[in-house]
Amino acid sequence: MSRHCVTLLVIIFGLLQMAVALYSNPSSTHPNCTERCGNVSIQYPFGFGSGCFRQPDFSLTCDGGGGGNQPPKTFLHDGITEVLPDSGVTVGLSRLIDVAISHTIFMAPGIPSYNFSWNLSSFTMLDGSFNVTGCDFDIYRQEPGKNGSIPRCTNSCPQNITETVARQNCNGTGCCRLYVGEVVPDFQLKFVLHNNDTRGDHDALSNGSTLWNTINITSNWAQILWDIDDQPTCSRAKDKNINYACVSNYSHCFDAELFDIGYRCGCNSGYVGNPYVVDGCKRDEGYSPNQLKENCSRSCGNISVPYPFGLEEGCSARKLFKLNCRNATASMLQFDDDRVVAFINVAESLVGIRFTSHFEDDQLGIYVPGEPDLFMGLGESVVSMHWAAANLTCDEALKNKSQYACVSSNSKCLGVNSKDGYIGYRCKCLDGFQGNPYTISDGCEGTT
Ligand SMILES: *[C@@H]1O[C@H](CO)[C@@H](O)[C@H](O)[C@H]1NC(C)=O
Ligand SMILES: *[C@@H]1O[C@H](CO)[C@@H](O)[C@H](O)[C@H]1NC(C)=O
Ligand SMILES: *[C@@H]1O[C@H](CO)[C@@H](O)[C@H](O)[C@H]1NC(C)=O
Ligand SMILES: *[C@@H]1O[C@H](CO)[C@@H](O)[C@H](O)[C@H]1NC(C)=O
Ligand SMILES: *[C@@H]1O[C@H](CO)[C@@H](O)[C@H](O)[C@H]1NC(C)=O
Ligand SMILES: *[C@@H]1O[C@H](CO)[C@@H](O)[C@H](O)[C@H]1NC(C)=O
Ligand SMILES: *[C@@H]1O[C@H](CO)[C@@H](O)[C@H](O)[C@H]1NC(C)=O
Ligand SMILES: *[C@@H]1O[C@H](CO)[C@@H](O)[C@H](O)[C@H]1NC(C)=O
Ligand SMILES: *[C@@H]1O[C@H](CO)[C@@H](O)[C@H](O)[C@H]1NC(C)=O
Ligand SMILES: *[C@@H]1O[C@H](CO)[C@@H](O)[C@H](O)[C@H]1NC(C)=O
Ligand SMILES: *[C@@H]1O[C@H](CO)[C@@H](O)[C@H](O)[C@H]1NC(C)=O
Ligand SMILES: *[C@@H]1O[C@H](CO)[C@@H](O)[C@H](O)[C@H]1NC(C)=O
Repeated sequence: MSRHCVTLLVIIFGLLQMAVALYSNPSSTHPNCTERCGNVSIQYPFGFGSGCFRQPDFSLTCDGGGGGNQPPKTFLHDGITEVLPDSGVTVGLSRLIDVAISHTIFMAPGIPSYNFSWNLSSFTMLDGSFNVTGCDFDIYRQEPGKNGSIPRCTNSCPQNITETVARQNCNGTGCCRLYVGEVVPDFQLKFVLHNNDTRGDHDALSNGSTLWNTINITSNWAQILWDIDDQPTCSRAKDKNINYACVSNYSHCFDAELFDIGYRCGCNSGYVGNPYVVDGCKRDEGYSPNQLKENCSRSCGNISVPYPFGLEEGCSARKLFKLNCRNATASMLQFDDDRVVAFINVAESLVGIRFTSHFEDDQLGIYVPGEPDLFMGLGESVVSMHWAAANLTCDEALKNKSQYACVSSNSKCLGVNSKDGYIGYRCKCLDGFQGNPYTISDGCEGTT
C-alpha cells in the first residue's frame, strides 16, 4: 500500500491534528530513562525499565543486538513486535509506529490446524502486509462476528520446493501474501492443513525443506497506533483524576476515535513537546541562530541553500529547515519525496515548492516530527511559501537573544500571518539594506 493511502487514513482519523499537537521536543523526558535503543528514539509514556513507562503495554525492551555491526533492536511488550527506526520519529510522541514481526510456528505430528494471534492490547493495527511461508494449508482470518469460512490465501507446494524459490514470488507456491488494510484491534490467523494432513514427520515429508514443517509469518511492513486506555474517555480520566495522562501545563486531551476506548494528549496550539510529562509542552525552542557545523555546503546544483536552511546535520537552524540534495547534477533539492524545492529567498523569507504528488489544500503543510509547521502556501503549481523562523511573536523572540533568528545588523523582526492565524516571526533587512538577515557574515548591507 502506498504512503498516500496511509496518509489518507491518517487524515480520516483526524491524526493530522495530533501530528500538529504532538511535535516533540527532545529535551522533555522522564528523569534517568534511556531515550534511545539503536536508531530508535523513545519518550515517555513509552520507556525501558520500571518507572520509565506509564502502563505495562508501553514497556519496551532493547535487545543488545547480535554482535557485529548490527544495531540493537527495540521490541514491544509482546517480545515479537519490533519497533523500526523511522527517521525523525520518536516513539511516544508519534502516535503511529512502524513495526515488524517475524514468527515461526513449528508443526507437530497429529495436529491439523494452528493459530497465530498478534494482540497488542492498547494498540490498534492500522495496516500491514505479511508473507506466510509453508506448504499445503489454507489461511483464515479469525474476526469476531465474522464467519471466516473463506481462506484469505492458500499455500500449495510441489514436492521439490525450496524456501528460496517459494519466497521469490510469494504467489501461493510455498508462500503467500496477506494484506490487512482495515483498522483492527488485533490480528488472528488460523492455518488449516489440507486433506486433514498432519506434519512434523521431518524425514517422510520435509524432503529437506523446512517449508513442510514450519509456518513462518514475516511482515513486509506494518503500522500500529496507540492510545492511553486505562480510562475510556477524557472526561472519565479527568473525573477520576487518578493517573490522568495529560500532566503538562498547556496540554489537552483527545478521545480515541477508533474503537471508542481510550484517550491521548496533545500540547496546546503554540506549544510543542511532550504532553505526558510535567512541563513537557513548551514554546518553540527549535531555532538555533548559530550554524553548528563549519564548512557547510551551500548549494545543490544551481540552487543556493543559504542559512537558516542547510543540507547536513548542524548546517540548518532547525530540523524543519534541513533539506536533501538528491541529485546535485540535476539540482534536485527536496524537503521529502513529495516536495521539491525550486528556490530559497531569504530576503523575503520565501521558498518555492513543487509538489510531485497531489495534495489537497489543507495538506500543503510540511510536518516534521518535533517541529511546528512554519510554512504558509501562497500560489499553485510551483507554490511560493512564506516561512517563519519559529512559532514565536517578535516580543517573545527578542526576549531570548540566544535563539533570536534576526542576527544581522540592520535587520528587523516581522510577523507571518496566514488566513488561519499567526505562524511565527521572520526577519527582513531594513529598507535600503540587502543580504541575508539570518546570518552575520552575509548579513544586511547598505545598497547605496
Ligand atoms: C537520577 O539519577 C541520579 C544519579 O544516578 C540520582 O541522583 C537521581 O536521584 C535520579 N533521579 C531520579 C528521579 O530517579
Ligand atoms: C542508524 O543510524 C546511523 C547514523 O545515523 C546510520 O549510519 C545507520 O545506517 C542507521 N542504521 C539503521 C539500521 O538504520
Ligand atoms: C522467518 O523467515 C525469515 C526469512 O527467511 C527469517 O529471517 C526469520 O528468522 C524467520 N523467523 C523466525 C522467527 O524464525
Ligand atoms: C485456535 O483458536 C480457536 C478460536 O479462535 C480455538 O477454538 C482453537 O482451539 C485454537 N486452536 C489451537 C490449536 O490453539
Ligand atoms: C488481547 O489482549 C487483551 C489484553 O491482554 C485481552 O483483553 C483481549 O481479550 C485479547 N484479545 C484476543 C482476541 O485475544
Ligand atoms: C459460514 O459460511 C458458510 C458458507 O457460506 C456456511 O455454510 C456456514 O453455515 C456459515 N457458518 C456460520 C456459523 O455462520
Ligand atoms: C521440480 O519438479 C518439477 C516437476 O516435477 C520440475 O519441472 C521442476 O524443474 C523441479 N524444480 C526444481 C527446482 O528442481
Ligand atoms: C509462482 O512462483 C513460482 C516460484 O516461486 C513459479 O514457479 C510459478 O510459476 C509462479 N506461478 C505463477 C502463477 O506465477
Ligand atoms: C515477501 O515476498 C516478496 C515477493 O513476492 C519479496 O519481495 C519480499 O522480500 C518478501 N518479504 C519478506 C519479508 O520476506
Ligand atoms: C483428522 O484426522 C484426525 C486424526 O487422524 C481424526 O481424529 C479426525 O477425525 C480427522 N478429521 C476430519 C475432519 O477428517
Ligand atoms: C503559533 O503560536 C501561536 C500563539 O502565539 C498560535 O496561536 C499558533 O497556532 C501557533 N502556530 C502553530 C503552527 O503552532
Ligand atoms: C542525476 O541527474 C542527472 C541529470 O538528470 C542524471 O543523468 C543522473 O543519472 C542522476 N543521477 C542519479 C544518481 O540519479
